[in-house]
Amino acid sequence: MSKSKVLITGGTGYIGSHTVVELINAGYEAVIVDNLSNSERFILDRIEQITRVKPTFYQIDLCDKAKVEELFSTEKDIDAVIHFAAFKAVGESVKEPLKYFLNNNLSLINLLEVMKAKAVNNIVFSSSATVYGQPDVLPATETTPFQKALSAYGSTKQMGEEILEKVSAATNVHSIALRYFNPVGAHKSALIGELPIGIPSNLMPFVTQTGIGKREMLTIFGNDYSTPDGTCIRDYIHVIDLAKAHVKACERLLEGKSESRYEIFNLGTGKGTSVLEIVNAFEKVTGQKLNYKFGERRDGDVESLYAETKLANEKLGWKAELGLDEMLSSAWAWEVKLKETVDK
Ligand code: NAD
Ligand code: WQD
Repeated sequence: MSKSKVLITGGTGYIGSHTVVELINAGYEAVIVDNLSNSERFILDRIEQITRVKPTFYQIDLCDKAKVEELFSTEKDIDAVIHFAAFKAVGESVKEPLKYFLNNNLSLINLLEVMKAKAVNNIVFSSSATVYGQPDVLPATETTPFQKALSAYGSTKQMGEEILEKVSAATNVHSIALRYFNPVGAHKSALIGELPIGIPSNLMPFVTQTGIGKREMLTIFGNDYSTPDGTCIRDYIHVIDLAKAHVKACERLLEGKSESRYEIFNLGTGKGTSVLEIVNAFEKVTGQKLNYKFGERRDGDVESLYAETKLANEKLGWKAELGLDEMLSSAWAWEVKLKETVDK
């Protein structure tokens, strides 16, 4: 039997590249499309180094519908699409909302239109726990209502889900929206990982860059929250666990196991960890002292957010397996390797 072919948009990006590796390991044929707006071409060589397979790559902007049509005409027998491609900088999206509405929504709409025309009926969508805002009750379940998004980025994830739900109801498309909590860590080879451009706004790359001396000091945004140590709580999840969940989602779609045409799953560990706990665990796991200070709260931050993961456990047959130690040690190994590569 021939391998199922999966098109991975944003496949040279952080989560996409790890998913490509897991898909290839699971026996899928991976075709990557990315415009390299937030990733590097060398990631393709790294994927090949890890898997011994060179994935087919198209450098295309998904906002260019003619190019997307051309791609689907060349790659005739795509079985499923995993749509990672999007802009993801929350702060930037507040300042430049149109950039986000245009890129994130148009790329999804173009894809769905071309998929319809070519009768490709399976799609997995990268959603985010950001759709929940600060829920009244924790952990957040898939039925926890959305709160008004505070950023255009958050709006595009809420809108993306709405688009998929409506399109799935009206067509033959089967879709799965995966709501990621806080993805961190890197592949154990340290050949792929998160590549933030400029000053990172996310916690983990800021921690590792401070550890390595690229940043002087980490500022912990607020220590007066109503949490045990006063700092915010999140559900950090290893990117490899996340990648494996995408393989499960593809399997579910391709084996016709979906219980409805549009499904949603939270992807987290179900465990909340505070910023201070991250800092202390980082020092313990890596043996590296971290300069940090407490600062003001960051606008738009929620106090506490973690996932109910029962649905993914039971229906997807997936459970996060890697703990905080593996998240921190792999993120650190990646940072160290990046420094060695740059310094060479
Ligand atoms: P990333 O920026 O590393 O990867 C996204 C990739 O998409 C990049 O390689 C970029 O070049 C590409 N891209 C963007 N717009 C494109 C376009 N118009 N055409 C073609 N390629 C385009 O981001 P990531 O962290 O891997 O995130 C992947 C997805 O997961 C995104 O949709 C993001 O919103 C979502 N998500 C990420 C997080 C997180 O914390 N990393 C959390 C929740 C959800
Ligand atoms: C985590 C915690 C900060 C940096 C964001 C997006 C969300 C999703 C994941 C895409 C918070 C604290 C951070 C620093 C700090 N992305 N922090 N000092 O805000 O939970 O979620 O990324 O979908 O949509 O909003 O993640 O990593 O930015 O922050 O104290 O320098 O670390 O206040 O409590 P967040 P984060």
